[in-house]
Amino acid sequence: MRNLSETNLTDAVIAAMTQAKDPRFEEVMGSLVKHLHAFIQEVNLTEPEWMAGIQFLTAVGKKCDDKRQEFILLSDTLGATTMKDIINNRRPPGVTEYTILGPFYQPDAPELLLSEDIANGLPGEPVVMKGCVLAPDGSPIPNAKLEVWQSDSSGFYDLQMENMNSSALRGVFHTDVKGGYSFRTIKPAPYPIPHDGPVGQMLTAMGRQPYRPAHIHFMLSAEGYQPVTTELFVAGDPYLDSDAVFGVRESLIVSFVRNESEEDAQQFNVSNPFYTVDYDFVLQPL
Ligand code: BEZ
Ligand code: FE
Repeated sequence: MRNLSETNLTDAVIAAMTQAKDPRFEEVMGSLVKHLHAFIQEVNLTEPEWMAGIQFLTAVGKKCDDKRQEFILLSDTLGATTMKDIINNRRPPGVTEYTILGPFYQPDAPELLLSEDIANGLPGEPVVMKGCVLAPDGSPIPNAKLEVWQSDSSGFYDLQMENMNSSALRGVFHTDVKGGYSFRTIKPAPYPIPHDGPVGQMLTAMGRQPYRPAHIHFMLSAEGYQPVTTELFVAGDPYLDSDAVFGVRESLIVSFVRNESEEDAQQFNVSNPFYTVDYDFVLQPL
């Protein structure tokens, strides 16, 4: 511990933890120290750069409050959230892929009947979304719970809207006996993640943009199956290849098909023109 050098410091810090009570904590912190030291050596971190890092993390902490979690935003924008999601949600091909939860989920959204409208009167282009929740062998999963939430046509969630006392653009549905679901909504828009803080400054310094491509969030669960948190992305969105939080997966990009038929609009109880989205979710058995 006294003749510390560039070559033995890392081992000394790791050895100092051997009395840790929790072996997993020791493993995680040991690896963190190893990678942190290697990073400092690799980039030859200077004194002003170290101080800039400390000041940045301090600013991230100061930006956090009950509503704003700048550290999660930092994790999201560095891809750390998505790496954690990928390694914790490995599923066989064909099963609906997991993607980032985000900060706008609410566990107590209203329970709605199939084909009901979640827009709650908000203006936008009407969408009829429908499909099935299936097992990997194609068999239907009746009574699967499908929670849905999304932004409006300007990119805002109900939680961000002033004068919005009730919930909007979110709801809970249950599939019918054939595993079917359907609901009406409005087309979501791309929106920027909160970028008026240190994470926004970091994105600018990195030459990155803060937008997420338009998407609808889902959380699916059913007895006997692994739950999945996911999103469906609007095909053709300009931000599909530059999502600020790395949530896009090819299998989750869906076409919003424009329909100008008055007859179809009447059948689905929407105004004309409208969009249809057909998507089947596949859950992995436990
Ligand atoms: C979202 O899609 O709701 C979201 C995800 C990560 C950060 C900010 C927003
Ligand atoms: Fe979102």
